[in-house]
Amino acid sequence: MATNMLITGFCIITFISTLSPTPTTSLPFIVFHGIADQCNSKRLQNLTATLSSLSGAHGDCIEIGNGVLDSFFMPIEKQIEIACKKVKNMSKLAQGYNLVAESQGNMVGRGVIELCDGGPPVKNFIALAGPHAGIASPPLCNVTRSCIIQASLINLGVYTKFVQERLAPAGYIRIPTDIEGYKVGCKFLPKLNNEIAGQRNSTYKERFSSLQNVVLFEQDRALVPRETSWFGQYEDGSWNRILPVQQTKLYTEDWIGLRALDEAGKVKFVSVTGDHLQFSLSDMQRHVIPYLISVEE
Ligand SMILES: *[C@@H]1O[C@H](CO)[C@@H](O)[C@H](O)[C@H]1NC(C)=O
Ligand SMILES: *[C@@H]1O[C@H](CO)[C@@H](O)[C@H](O)[C@H]1NC(C)=O
Ligand SMILES: *[C@@H]1O[C@H](CO)[C@@H](O)[C@H](O)[C@H]1NC(C)=O
Ligand SMILES: *[C@@H]1O[C@H](CO)[C@@H](O)[C@H](O)[C@H]1NC(C)=O
Repeated sequence: MATNMLITGFCIITFISTLSPTPTTSLPFIVFHGIADQCNSKRLQNLTATLSSLSGAHGDCIEIGNGVLDSFFMPIEKQIEIACKKVKNMSKLAQGYNLVAESQGNMVGRGVIELCDGGPPVKNFIALAGPHAGIASPPLCNVTRSCIIQASLINLGVYTKFVQERLAPAGYIRIPTDIEGYKVGCKFLPKLNNEIAGQRNSTYKERFSSLQNVVLFEQDRALVPRETSWFGQYEDGSWNRILPVQQTKLYTEDWIGLRALDEAGKVKFVSVTGDHLQFSLSDMQRHVIPYLISVEE
């Protein structure tokens, strides 16, 4: 009788511990969504829940402002300020956390990594289809109302103060035939990428360099060019030639530490098929989950 109870009890404990894969060793993760999305959309809720159940790690999607509208119209730097306050205020992140970002959320995520003074440390950065080296046309530019607004603002001049202050993607639109305009007028990406000689901030590089792993998902029919998710970009002055990451100055001169991380084997360049932000479960299993199960080092 006693032995039976002992065995039953043991089985239950074994069963329970099989169900919950080592929650005490996994760091929590957070998710930043892309443009035209919000944390409480079905897809985002499903993504966060799926990653959480597959990894056994606790995950939260962090909302910036009111979701969809602010994702279009709040400048990225403002979004980062809000995100920075939020991560600093989440005590469960204090020992470090992993960051998963989709599309424009990558600008917010990398902003939090590089610019957030006093924030908790990010360990692994999983960058799903991020416009890391800029995009050359507005994202998701369909005949929706927001797109018409975007297009007309861009016609007004994407690098004017007016547009920069009113349209989130203006912070990372890089028109290859107007690089001078971009360097002077674009308020966000040149700073994030330490692109301007004389204005580079070594703190940004130090912080990005401290990541344990960077997983760059390239996929995409929405980003132009798609190589931007791997930090590739149009050659200055050209709409024809695309520089792969290793040929960009960001990489060769190592403005943010990407090259050093890559040489240390810490950058994973992943290419997956499918429409924008439609990731298969098996790609998630192979390329994302291992970095969410990370054990403290
Ligand atoms: C996410 O969505 C898929 C497909 O619709 C579904 O099979 C799965 O159960 C959902 N996962 C969660 C955690 O809600
Ligand atoms: C910090 O979090 C608490 C609850 O966890 C909340 O009441 C408070 O408003 C938050 N502060 C900021 C600055 O977000
Ligand atoms: C570099 O960035 C850090 C972190 O945001 C900031 O504290 C510092 O003042 C910046 N340095 C320069 C020279 O702008
Ligand atoms: C954009 O247009 C294509 C083709 O008409 C459609 O399949 C897609 O769902 C649209 N995307 C958005 C975000 O409206």
